[in-house]
Amino acid sequence: MTSVGIDAIEIWTGNLELDLPNTFAPAQGKDPEYYTKGIGLNASSFPDTYEDIVTMGANAAYRLMERKGLEPADIGRIDVATESSFDKSKPISTYVAGCLEQVYDGDFHHANKGERKFACIAGTQCLDDAYNWIRAGRNRGRAALVIATDTALYERDDPGEATQGAGAVAMLIDEDPAIVELTTEQGYGSADETDFLKPQQQFPSVDGKRSMQVYLARMREALEDYERVAGDSHPDNFAYVPFHTPFPGMVRKAAVLAYRHSIRNTPIEDELAEEIGRQPRREAFDDEEAYEEAVREYMDALKETEHYQEWYATTIEPTLTISREVGNWYTGSVHVARTSALIHALENDIDLVGETLGVGSYGSGAQAEVHGEIVVEGWRDEVAAIDIDDQLDDRRSITFEEYESIHDAHNHDKDVEPVELTTPENEFVFDGWGRMGERTYRFVE
Ligand code: CAA
Repeated sequence: MTSVGIDAIEIWTGNLELDLPNTFAPAQGKDPEYYTKGIGLNASSFPDTYEDIVTMGANAAYRLMERKGLEPADIGRIDVATESSFDKSKPISTYVAGCLEQVYDGDFHHANKGERKFACIAGTQCLDDAYNWIRAGRNRGRAALVIATDTALYERDDPGEATQGAGAVAMLIDEDPAIVELTTEQGYGSADETDFLKPQQQFPSVDGKRSMQVYLARMREALEDYERVAGDSHPDNFAYVPFHTPFPGMVRKAAVLAYRHSIRNTPIEDELAEEIGRQPRREAFDDEEAYEEAVREYMDALKETEHYQEWYATTIEPTLTISREVGNWYTGSVHVARTSALIHALENDIDLVGETLGVGSYGSGAQAEVHGEIVVEGWRDEVAAIDIDDQLDDRRSITFEEYESIHDAHNHDKDVEPVELTTPENEFVFDGWGRMGERTYRFVE
């Protein structure tokens, strides 16, 4: 069976940076440690006024195509995942293709294009679609371009404002990939939920606390469903577990839940029993509330064990490095987490070939997916080519007043004169509106 997976990754961060503990916290009258320790973020990436989901997505895709020496004829499919779309009919992938056609001789008329929507999980769904298309043999030797791009902005003073971010991840999905092979081991947890949504509005309506519970409930279902295909999971099965990361504090909660689930009835549970007891079993309780309280107590104790902390430091913490500096990128976030782990492995000379990544994606509304990916030969060269560290360093740090004006400039309900804080170079920029209200773009050398 031909292997299919991720052959190349490029990341494009918004060109601005908001320092959360030093700039945002004082202006909000908040303790800086709420950001750095509580939710786990140091900074948010923001789009300058000439940036949006199209420019960031096209810039990531262009960089990827240039690095891989690709022409439009090599790409048979462009799928964009976003929850920040500005058009209910024309997909963002057509805008991205239009940008790329400005800089290539060929065109993408032959390419199937679409836009996927299911909150933050849509990026992973695009990956699945691309995989299925290639495995079905309908790709005629061409690769798929998957682009996850979002400006994850909240209403001012919403609790989610602390978790904002903006950026894009472009991934090339192809046969005989150079980074990871996607496996057929995949599980879902999906239910009609009202936790985070945007009914005909730009900024989300969020029930923050509930969204966290729904994330955990659906993720647990997805893990159980994954186990129906892959067999019982064990913490040692995975080199890394990149989760959807709205903010690292959320992953802290998901990780302990997944660990508890995976060590049940294993020698690890037996070994830990002396220190923290065995896990509560539902059948030993008459009342669900008492059972859940006992589980919470067990997890609080589990978090403090050396066993857990070592696993967390090795398997989870490396997935959070980039997220801590950029905030939530919605559809791109789990793909940033995977990249972060791979960069960590490269920098620490960890041999990953043949190792499994357990990828936990989530989208509000709500659906989680857990799937396995196997790291393949070639990953080192591909990951070494990703220059996200330089991009993060090159962002312009903004003052609180600049943040306010940038937020206003991206607010569709406000009519403000956009003022650019940086000078674009070698990138696509938003250029204004066309005759039918479409957004227009050009490439700036
Ligand atoms: N110093 C250190 N830590 C502090 C602190 C301080 N001064 N003050 C509070 N904290 C800690 C809290 O103890 C808490 O820690 P634990 O995680 O260990 O419990 C943590 O900081 C967060 O504090 P709160 O629980 O008080 O959180 P909050 O109410 O301020 O906001 C939130 C959190 C509700 C998630 C809010 O950020 C939000 O609404 N975000 C948007 C929705 C979201 O991201 N949901 C996540 C799941 S849905 C999803 O994943 C989809 C998506 O991308 C949006």
